Amino acid sequence: MVRLNVNIDHVATLRQARQAQEPDPVAAALLCELAGADGITVHIRADRRHIQERDLEMLRRTLKTRLNVEMATEQDTIRLVMSIAPDQVTFVPERPDELTTEGGLDVMTHRDTLKNNIALFKEREVHVSLFVDPNLDQVKAAHMVGAQAVEINTGRYCESPPGPERERQLQEIVNSIKLAGKLGMGCHAGHGLDYRNLLPVAALAEIEEFNIGHAIIARAALVGMERAVREMIDAIRRARR
Ligand code: PXP
Repeated sequence: MVRLNVNIDHVATLRQARQAQEPDPVAAALLCELAGADGITVHIRADRRHIQERDLEMLRRTLKTRLNVEMATEQDTIRLVMSIAPDQVTFVPERPDELTTEGGLDVMTHRDTLKNNIALFKEREVHVSLFVDPNLDQVKAAHMVGAQAVEINTGRYCESPPGPERERQLQEIVNSIKLAGKLGMGCHAGHGLDYRNLLPVAALAEIEEFNIGHAIIARAALVGMERAVREMIDAIRRARR
């Protein structure tokens, strides 16, 4: 069964815009669970611009589904996330001035750091995924450093206008997930997916987990969290049929 993790960072962004208590991402996470989400994803950034330590601690204590924490290989953050022991961590690249994660990891360049950190989390029975572009060399490198899963960056596919370029990007995703499967790794996908562009990607049976934030939270602001999450679950299920 394919899983939907809702990324709730934007809820924390709204709270931090006023340095206030609300909206509480923990409350949002519980609504996502009630609507049928299989898990919650948060990105704890080194600059703590949205998700805070308190959020991680409370999510760990209250979630009934799975907690997936995205982070860079920054020592303080790693120590914190290790103490939380989420169900899964996803390593992502991070640049201080970016609006959102801009691309996948260059696994080969950071292989030693990644290998050491992956081993530390695996020892604690935390499942480890690497966010990579749809590129065969990156998938092979992710396998080499010991990752149990790859999250394929769908950003470029989503940004391409419908037509040959989007088809080419979709084919890159297909090639990457097939290789990940052959290497015995789990296959996740995310970034830029919305209720429409998701359909051809969600039809790919090899993908076992989606991490989706912006589209769901943007719709939730207008129609409510429960409806926004349910509609995304329905879209994924329709694509799978
Ligand atoms: N996956 C990763 C690794 C991400 O960094 C993000 C954005 O935080 C997402 C998925 C979700 O992307 P979006 O908000 O565009 O759905």
